[in-house]
Amino acid sequence: MVGLPARGKTFVARKLQGYLSWLGYRTLWVNVGDYRRSRAGARQPAAYFAPDNTATREEREGFATAALNDLLDWFNKGGEVGIYDATNAERPRRDLIRQQCSAAGVDVLFVEIICDDAALIEANVRRNKLGLPDYAGMTADEAFRDFQARIEQYARTYLPVQDDEGSYVKVIDAGRQVISHRIEGYLSSRLAFFLMQIRPTERPIWLSRHGESESNLVDRIGGDAPLTERGREYAKTLEAFVRARCNHLVVWTSALQRTVATARLMGFEPNALRALNEIDAGVCDGLTYQEIKQRMPDEFAARAANKFRYRYPRGESYADVIQRLEPVIVELEGLRSPVLIVGHQAVLRALYGYLMGKPQDECPYLSVPLHTVIQLTPTETGYDEQRFPL
Ligand code: F6P
Repeated sequence: MVGLPARGKTFVARKLQGYLSWLGYRTLWVNVGDYRRSRAGARQPAAYFAPDNTATREEREGFATAALNDLLDWFNKGGEVGIYDATNAERPRRDLIRQQCSAAGVDVLFVEIICDDAALIEANVRRNKLGLPDYAGMTADEAFRDFQARIEQYARTYLPVQDDEGSYVKVIDAGRQVISHRIEGYLSSRLAFFLMQIRPTERPIWLSRHGESESNLVDRIGGDAPLTERGREYAKTLEAFVRARCNHLVVWTSALQRTVATARLMGFEPNALRALNEIDAGVCDGLTYQEIKQRMPDEFAARAANKFRYRYPRGESYADVIQRLEPVIVELEGLRSPVLIVGHQAVLRALYGYLMGKPQDECPYLSVPLHTVIQLTPTETGYDEQRFPL
C-alpha cells in the first residue's frame, strides 16, 4: 500500500485481504502502525513522524523492516499474497521493498490511495482515527489537529509512485478515477478490477433465505419447489422489516422460484441471478439426507469428511459455489444502495463468509437458518452483524 495517512489504505487493504482469502489464496495483512503501537507505545505526537527527526526516524524504519521481514518469512512458509499496509510514501523505502521482494522471488504491485478531497479526509479521520489508542484521553478536536499535523509531516517527503517503479494501481478520490500501470497476469488484473469497485459506503446489506418451501417441509435438498403458506407469510413479514428501515433498496434473488416468489410477495421486482442459485446437488438433487445416506453411503461419508471440497456427482462443491459467486461479490462491492439478497442456505453461507472474513473451510457450517434476516452494517474493518429471527 502507498499513500498519506487517512486516505483509506487500511480499508482497501482489509478488503483485498478478505477477497483474496475467500478466493482461496493464502493471504497475510501486516500493518506497520500496529508494530509501532506495540513496540514504541501508541501515544506519539505528530513530531515523532517528522521525516527529519533523526531520533525517531531510525526507530520507525526498524518497525517497517520488522513488518516486511515477517511478511517475507511468511512467503517462505507457503504464503501466496502479502499485503504490506504502511504509508510507504518515500521512494527509497519503496525501492527497498522492491529489492527485497525481488530477491525473495515475490512480485510487487503498489496500490496507491490518493485523495485530495478535504471533506473525505476529514470524515475518514473523524470516523476511523480518533478512536485509535494513539488518541486515548484527548478531546476529538485536539486529536483531529494532531492527526492533521501528522499528515503534514508525511506530506513533506511524499512522492507518488512513478512509472519506473513497476506495476501499480492508483485509486483516486474513493474510486472516482483508477489508473493502472504494467498490470500483468491473471491475479494482478483481477485485483485491479476489484479495486475499481470498492469504496467506503454506509449502506446495509440484508441476507435472508427464501420463505419456507415445500421441499424444506420434507427436508429435500435442491429442486425448485414453491413456497408453503408459512413461507408466503414470511415474505410479508420480511417486507415490513425492510420497509421499516428504508424505502429505496435493491433486491437480488436467485433464478429459482422460491426466492423470486419471496421478493415478489414483498412487492419488489427482483434482479434474479443464476449465480445466486443454490448449490447444485447433482445426482442427489431432490433427495433427503436420509435417502442419500441409504442409497449412496460412500457419497454421504465423503461429504461428511470434507464438506468444503466435496463435489456432488454431476453437481457442485462449496469451493465451486465460491468461484461462481465472485462476480456477485464484485457487483456488491460497487453497489451504493441498500440491498436485500434473498438466497439459499449454501450460497448465503458463502456470501456471509466473504463479508465476515470467515475461513473458507468454515463456510459449510455457518448458521443461516430459515426465516431469519442477517443485517450487516459496514465499518472501516468489516461489518457489524445483527440477526433478526422473524
Ligand atoms: O436444505 C436446504 C438447502 O438449501 C438445500 O437445497 C441445499 O442442498 C442445502 O440446504 C445446503 O446445505 P448443506 O450444505 O448443509 O447440505
